[in-house]
Amino acid sequence: MSAGLADLVARYARKEKRMSGRLHDRVAVVTGGALGIGGGISRRLAAAGAIVVLNDIDADAAEMARAEIDAAGGRCVLVIGDIRDRAVVDRVRDTALSQKDGLVDALVNNVGDFRPAARTFLHSTEEQWQQLYELNLLHVLRMCHTLLPAMIANGSGAVINNATVEAFRGIPYAAPYAAFNAGVVAFTKSLAVDVAQHGIRVNAIAPDLADTPQTPAALMLRGRDPDLIQSWVPLGRFGTPDDYAAVVEFLASDDARFVTGHTIPVDGGTLAASGWYGRADGKGWTNLPTHP
Ligand SMILES: NC(=O)c1ccc[n+]([C@@H]2O[C@H](COP(=O)([O-])OP(=O)(O)OC[C@H]3O[C@@H](n4cnc5c(N)ncnc54)[C@H](O)[C@@H]3O)[C@@H](O)[C@H]2O)c1
Repeated sequence: MSAGLADLVARYARKEKRMSGRLHDRVAVVTGGALGIGGGISRRLAAAGAIVVLNDIDADAAEMARAEIDAAGGRCVLVIGDIRDRAVVDRVRDTALSQKDGLVDALVNNVGDFRPAARTFLHSTEEQWQQLYELNLLHVLRMCHTLLPAMIANGSGAVINNATVEAFRGIPYAAPYAAFNAGVVAFTKSLAVDVAQHGIRVNAIAPDLADTPQTPAALMLRGRDPDLIQSWVPLGRFGTPDDYAAVVEFLASDDARFVTGHTIPVDGGTLAASGWYGRADGKGWTNLPTHP
């Protein structure tokens, strides 16, 4: 078979797969959908047949994601911009609603970041709290507020928020981040109750230890022996973006039709094994067993 024909056959096979995917022809919005967990989510939803409306602040990374989705036979439309910006929220909404007669089937609020923080709470500033609020909670409210009317008009929809295990487990040096993510979890529960009558489900995932640009494996290891990961994570490895995306795909799909108001930890078992521990030498904290 010639290379050109083989490529054509492969493209056809991918299209067939997409058309039989469980999100075939659904319109799915993913914020922060270029890299990391969001990158895994947009690629996975597209592979499941969704028309992905991908928002990201990083234009180059978003373009790369679109090219990959395209090459795999999927569909993706970009909305470049900072989701903290009200005008960007409006552009995401308009782009999503223009895909299929005002329908939007899934909204994945993925953007979030712990980094605008400082050592201890007492060292943190009001400016940092405001940044953490805007990065972790405010845009979640805005995106839901702006897209729920279309879901209500359609009588169906799935919202999936990205929280963190730190909403459930105490974390040193990140109390405001944990608080705003606990807000995401509480919002998820209460909104689910509000909109269930309209056929809309609202759920969340709570990741831990993902190998992403925000928390690269090398940074988490800090030169330590990778074999130690097995003693830190019950399932014995860091998460890949697709580990989280798989759960998001499930929550977005009809397979989760009777699931709403929940936050599913996707953490390789860390929450079950939970605990942050002070280091034996008294210098700082670790959520990892201290080895001699
Ligand atoms: N990495 C982890 O271990 C971990 C653990 C718990 C929770 N989470 C949560 O998962 C989500 C994703 O984390 P990640 O590690 O994949 O992040 P990441 O920083 O690696 O990737 C974030 C993506 O969002 C984009 N982005 C960042 N700010 C944006 C903004 N203001 N507007 C639009 N796009 C923006 C980035 O360009 C990137 O594509 C976050 O909500 C985070 O809090 C991650």
